[in-house]
Amino acid sequence: MSDTDREKGTAEAGRSRRPLFAANWKMNLLSRDVDAFLDRLAHELEAAPRQYDLLLAPSPVWLDRMAQRCRDLDLRLCAQDVHPAASGAHTGDVSAQQAADAGATWTLCGHSERRGSHHETDEVVCAKVVAAQEQGLGALFCLGETLPEREDDQVEEVFSRQLDPLIDAIEEGAVQPDPLRLALAYEPVWAIGTGRTATPELAAQSHALLRARLRTRLGPEIAERLQILYGGSVKPANAGALWREHELDGFLVGGASLDPGSFLDIIRGCGF
Ligand code: 13P
Repeated sequence: MSDTDREKGTAEAGRSRRPLFAANWKMNLLSRDVDAFLDRLAHELEAAPRQYDLLLAPSPVWLDRMAQRCRDLDLRLCAQDVHPAASGAHTGDVSAQQAADAGATWTLCGHSERRGSHHETDEVVCAKVVAAQEQGLGALFCLGETLPEREDDQVEEVFSRQLDPLIDAIEEGAVQPDPLRLALAYEPVWAIGTGRTATPELAAQSHALLRARLRTRLGPEIAERLQILYGGSVKPANAGALWREHELDGFLVGGASLDPGSFLDIIRGCGF
């Protein structure tokens, strides 16, 4: 899609940043499921330039299988993680170059399930963003607070701690703050897979805090152009209410993205 079509679609959608709807399938779905998912999208998506972007993050074993159809459907194909190193003795890991070679155009970085169960530090997450961009991948940088951090009034500190290595890397020129290569996803850990969605007001407040941090450190131009998605128990029933908050530029959906019907219902719930 041309830049003019992208800008036109964004304006028609009534938003200042282009909406992005992302599916994170985590460690779910088999080959037959991903084929059926893509069949359904091919059937339901309009051929006309869309007013929003779509991103699918399958298990890495399906990247190659999905690559051509994602290109045909103008979908971003996203790895769920990449290793910060270019190659080497890292059993079970995937490098950014391998993900790109298999057809990925984006990768998640720093999902809370990786930060938690794989002990990824803020610095490691940032190194992954650098590695991804070096291989031409966009990075969807995930962050968010735990419940004890929210209850202890630590949210602002947590956001600064998680964001600052990324901001430093942008200042140093190691990461490009280009919305075609970088986006953020706010995923409060207490809302992931729990059915406990953040209220639209709380999500909007958190997004505003994140954007304020970006503005303070990087200036208004960069802060205004980067998308911030919301993730955490988004489903067809709550998508419309969340979407009314213009601070939210889209969603990163887990459980409700496993079924193409409910993923499409979320997008339709936002008026598309
Ligand atoms: P759920 O939508 O299942 O809460 O997962 C959110 C998430 O972690 C997406 O990355």
